[in-house]
Amino acid sequence: MPPRPIISFAKIATPRKGTVVVLSAEETGLGEAARACDPARVFDKAFKVADFTGKSGTSLELLTPEGGGLDRLVAIGTGKESSLDEHAWMRIGGAIFAALRKSSDVSVVLDLPGTAIGGAEAAGVAGGLLLRSYAFDKYRTRKGEGEERNGSKTARIAFLCANPSAAKKAYAEAEAVANGVILARDLVNEPANALGPVEFAAKAKELSSLGVDVSVLTEKEMKKLGMGALLGVAQGSPRPPRLIVMRWNGGVAGDRPIAFVGKGVTFDTGGNSMKPASGMEDMKGDMGGAAAVVGLMHALAARKAKANVVGIIGCVENSVDGNAQRPGDIVTSMSGQTIEVLNTDAEGRLVLCDALWYCNEEFSPRFMINLATLTGAIMVALGQHHAGLFANDDVLADRLFAAGQATQEKVWRMPLGPEYDKLIDSKNADMKNIGGRYGGAISAAQFLKRFVKDTPWAHLDIAGTAMGSPSSEINQSWGSGFGVRLLDRLVRDHYEG
Ligand code: BES
Ligand code: MN
Ligand code: ZN
Repeated sequence: MPPRPIISFAKIATPRKGTVVVLSAEETGLGEAARACDPARVFDKAFKVADFTGKSGTSLELLTPEGGGLDRLVAIGTGKESSLDEHAWMRIGGAIFAALRKSSDVSVVLDLPGTAIGGAEAAGVAGGLLLRSYAFDKYRTRKGEGEERNGSKTARIAFLCANPSAAKKAYAEAEAVANGVILARDLVNEPANALGPVEFAAKAKELSSLGVDVSVLTEKEMKKLGMGALLGVAQGSPRPPRLIVMRWNGGVAGDRPIAFVGKGVTFDTGGNSMKPASGMEDMKGDMGGAAAVVGLMHALAARKAKANVVGIIGCVENSVDGNAQRPGDIVTSMSGQTIEVLNTDAEGRLVLCDALWYCNEEFSPRFMINLATLTGAIMVALGQHHAGLFANDDVLADRLFAAGQATQEKVWRMPLGPEYDKLIDSKNADMKNIGGRYGGAISAAQFLKRFVKDTPWAHLDIAGTAMGSPSSEINQSWGSGFGVRLLDRLVRDHYEG
């Protein structure tokens, strides 16, 4: 990541130097404090000349404007004031970062004519800016040459607002969450030669500095537990699998935890049922579910969430060698149920079924939510703007939907049912790992459902949203970190205190 913007909060003022950013709303325009930054009223004419109306996603920049000592004066369109919901403030932060150039001294005047911009809103703007500033430039030897040239925009940014101390407090939490998102993005973007299961475990271990308890099961221990489904996937790779258990105990001692489970296939060749070459490089991101769980654990621990939380990720490489699993192999999962592996590329469910079973047995959680880049079929169904949501519990599903609306990490509920469950019955074993041509995302979900007993459970198929999704005001990176803000919000709204 490029050097981070250095963010601070201070009282509303009229800055006399550097770059000044103000907000301008559609219909209502500039607030009083914003106007004061433009004593010569250059904006009045400039807005007309540029046909700038304050629409969301637009901005207007003046260079060395008359009447003050400023280098730049930038107006950011916010859209109508009535449309400023929680997420809009984050988008404004992203738009501010996008409008910056190389500048060391930036002040953002958070002021609008008819809207009180409190601590939460100011923190949202700053958090959105931080997320927008992310770029995966670790492997560039000439920094700042990426598409966004973020590296050359490093700046000290002072947000001038009505209540800086409230903003500072709110931003401490927003920053914790943003850092979790950034961690997840980094993990998804990292290539598979650098990030296999063992390296993933080492990254997860770093959470212990935040007070997260991290333990790692090796192949031998998983064998003892009978995780034949997960181990069957791993056996075609020289890189050994890891099951990583992260625990954050911020709630009442002894209270049953809530649990998040992630698919961590660090690379998915498809195995013997190999994928075509074209686009296979994207399968370095097939651990997007695991990345979201690690990012979430970071967020919760960094903001000291008052909840007991378990995060479990199954990390394997789905590769192919002489020992790799073959189509037709029958494996026995930890649950005792047998699985006929008809397609070695439907490996995510094989990893998750043992991770979910283990999670349920070991922790008796209040609920389990798993995240996985599970099927191409979910992208056919929903495109890249919603993750697929499958659940055996309406309350949990409704809460996830609401958290998705609030964070704009949107989910859309898909059906489950006995008709679909039948699709994975097998001739030779208790079930098979594929369900045929139609409803591929649903039969994958039905498969997972066979491993959760009656525990409230939701499955998020994030194949379309975790990576390669269209860039947004707050994300320009291939790996999006999808799921961290969504689940942090779910926890915050329903499972703390
Ligand atoms: N990791 C893939 C799903 C995927 C595809 C994620 C594209 C992100 C982008 C998964 O392991 C897979 O290969 N699924 C198969 C299942 C099929 C063999 C039943 C698929 O979707 O084609
Ligand atoms: Mn696969
Ligand atoms: Zn996969």
